[in-house]
Amino acid sequence: AADPVMVAEIAAQGARSLSDLRAALGGYEHCELKKGARNLVFADGNPAARVWILGEAPGRDEDLEGRPFVGRAGQFLDRMFAAIGLSRDSADPATSLYITNVMPWRPPQNRDPEPDEIAMMRPFVARHIALVDPEVIVVMGNTSLRAALNTTGILRARGQWAQGFGKPVLPMVHPAYLLRNPAAKREAWADLLSLQAKLRG
Ligand code: URA
Repeated sequence: AADPVMVAEIAAQGARSLSDLRAALGGYEHCELKKGARNLVFADGNPAARVWILGEAPGRDEDLEGRPFVGRAGQFLDRMFAAIGLSRDSADPATSLYITNVMPWRPPQNRDPEPDEIAMMRPFVARHIALVDPEVIVVMGNTSLRAALNTTGILRARGQWAQGFGKPVLPMVHPAYLLRNPAAKREAWADLLSLQAKLRG
């Protein structure tokens, strides 16, 4: 049988544009999650943005709309980044965001993606990043931390700049976690200021 990660590598490497990459994902048949999903959730925001947000996986609202981070966590994410002047709706690369997830399909009952599912999406994420070429990547939550830095433990990793996908990576806790644990917002604010400082050079 074909190795799902190798199939993903070959499909992703063949993509020369974002529309190629979306089509390659649409044609990828080795991820179980695809069967239960209504839509492929590819990306939102401005591909010219300096900042790339890497989330985990679509939830119910995202699956219905086909856009990442449009539910409650997404609305909170928008407010967080608005606090440092960044928005997915901005046309200016300096003040915009590009928003994606590791998984383009909603997991059943919003369960966490399995390590093998993350591994088969990683080549697509890496190619996506290479095509768009952002300046910095913010990874939100453990699924994204695993995809970017091959580690877990977001509560320990948050706020510490690292290198992943050939880019500076800032791990942050997921906005859904912040909604459940408001006490963690203080640290998230510190992380946003660290991002702002990085962008100001
Ligand atoms: N959580 C995520 O990680 N991504 C989404 O798109 C929505 C919720």
